[in-house]
Amino acid sequence: MNAMTDLVSSSSASTAPSPAATAPLVQVRGLRKHFGELEVLRGVDLDIAKSEVVCIIGPSGSGKSTLLRCLAALETYDAGEVLIEGQLLGYAERNGQRVRASQREINRVRRNVGMVFQQFNLWPHLSALDNVMEALLRVRKLPRDEAKQRANAMLETVGLAHKGDAKPAKLSGGQQQRVAIARALAMEPHIMLFDEPTSALDPELVGEVLQVMKQLARDGMTMAVVTHEMGFAAQVADKVMFIDEGRIAVQGKPRDVFHDARQPRLRQFLQNYFDRNAFWSREADEKNDVDERNAADGADA
Ligand SMILES: Nc1ncnc2c1ncn2[C@@H]1O[C@H](COP(=O)(O)OP(=O)(O)O)[C@@H](O)[C@H]1O
Ligand SMILES: [Mg+2]
Repeated sequence: MNAMTDLVSSSSASTAPSPAATAPLVQVRGLRKHFGELEVLRGVDLDIAKSEVVCIIGPSGSGKSTLLRCLAALETYDAGEVLIEGQLLGYAERNGQRVRASQREINRVRRNVGMVFQQFNLWPHLSALDNVMEALLRVRKLPRDEAKQRANAMLETVGLAHKGDAKPAKLSGGQQQRVAIARALAMEPHIMLFDEPTSALDPELVGEVLQVMKQLARDGMTMAVVTHEMGFAAQVADKVMFIDEGRIAVQGKPRDVFHDARQPRLRQFLQNYFDRNAFWSREADEKNDVDERNAADGADA
């Protein structure tokens, strides 16, 4: 996976040194968003430093996708600020008033933000290679052979160099998601946002996608990952954020969030995961039963 190392280092090397270079890559301050009556984000503050991996957990409907979509300018927001590499995303100040930025300006600021969705959103009529090339040709306006070379390198990065000619329907869900990751990486993002990237996959295909993401993290990619894969979060995250009802209710190192959860809503949320893995404790219970029986037998004898 050397191609990925090159990708990450070259994309950071191309960032001109500026005051923004030392600031967090993403800064969110007082972010609010509502859909009609429903306030979905109720004052979110967060920082993501360069090369940091942040995992976002929380119940369904708590605002996780909306938050990521705001970071990628796929959603407008009502109040607060989203700064990407020090630049305000989505809005501009004119005569002390906040106005919606032009699409051109929005595209410029979010240029370095890549996103991967739960549904892979590949073009069904295009090969894996063409799916990865598409935005390079259309958005980045790269010459065809350069686009093809980069797309091939990205497919190699996700372990799919041999599948370039395959249409999505011929690929497994895990492979399709890896193509979607290659497509995002091809745009040389400085940060990758993942919204439940493995939630649509059959359980046996989850690992191959997480593996690619782990490698990316090791290679220094800045990442924000909404996930229910607590094992991944525990292993890979620098920081875990628990979102509840549109607010970051708890954040900290994985160890503190997972093993020392005091906040009642977080405890309750995590309990569901512990319960799902309850067969381990059953094994332990059975062993205890045997031990107790043996002890009892010993006492009878
Ligand atoms: N485009 C939309 N229009 C109206 N309501 C929405 C829209 N998108 C999300 N919501 C609502 O906002 C809330 C938060 O959604 P979402 O950010 O998708 O939560 P999560 O990703 O944590 O499950 C939910 O109640 C959802 O129904
Ligand atoms: Mg969601």
